[in-house]
Amino acid sequence: MEAINLIILLFFLIFILGLFILIIFNLIFELYSQIIKKNSPFVPTIIKKHQDNFDEIFKFLENLGLSGKKFVDLGSGLGFVAFEFAKRNYLSYGIELNPFLISIAKLIKRIKGLKNVNFVRDDIFRYNLGDFDIIYLYQLPAINKKLLSKLENELKEGAIIISHIFRFPSSAKINLIKVVGNNVFFIYRR
Ligand SMILES: C[S@@+](CC[C@H](N)C(=O)[O-])C[C@H]1O[C@@H](n2cnc3c(N)ncnc32)[C@H](O)[C@@H]1O
Repeated sequence: MEAINLIILLFFLIFILGLFILIIFNLIFELYSQIIKKNSPFVPTIIKKHQDNFDEIFKFLENLGLSGKKFVDLGSGLGFVAFEFAKRNYLSYGIELNPFLISIAKLIKRIKGLKNVNFVRDDIFRYNLGDFDIIYLYQLPAINKKLLSKLENELKEGAIIISHIFRFPSSAKINLIKVVGNNVFFIYRR
């Protein structure tokens, strides 16, 4: 009995230590990513808070004939938006730089048992976007600005870009076709 208790305690301590090391590595990664690389921090889109807006967006996409098409969240964090699109039968992708967030998103995918969602660890500036019909981003304005020429050059004509909170500069060669909520989602067409 004593030995079993000792083994359980040992496993528990190893688990806590592992978790602690992961949190420290994640912190270092985030600091490097945000301070040195000037990347956006991880702040999730709160789906529940914006459920009505999402319903409106899905209706709009359906009217454009884009139901079930290929979707990507650029900087997908824990994958909440990618899961929402997968739930609605889109072929959904999430691209994310942070290895810890990607691992957790993949774990949630397994738990949810969703097959039509994929997470890729990559830099959104390097990943080819030519295949996607709908692009979602929740990035800082400076990142949106930096991404703009890639979106303009790489996306197929008619592709839809949904930006959460932040607009693209007015000089952008993508057209603002709809604003959802009180300046919550800006929808553009390439
Ligand atoms: C504001 S969060 C949005 C998360 C998710 N899209 C959502 O709405 O719930 C921005 C995410 O972009 C990721 N990110 C920032 N720069 C990136 C880059 N160059 N390549 C891939 N992901 C990046 C961050 O790690 C962070 O998870």
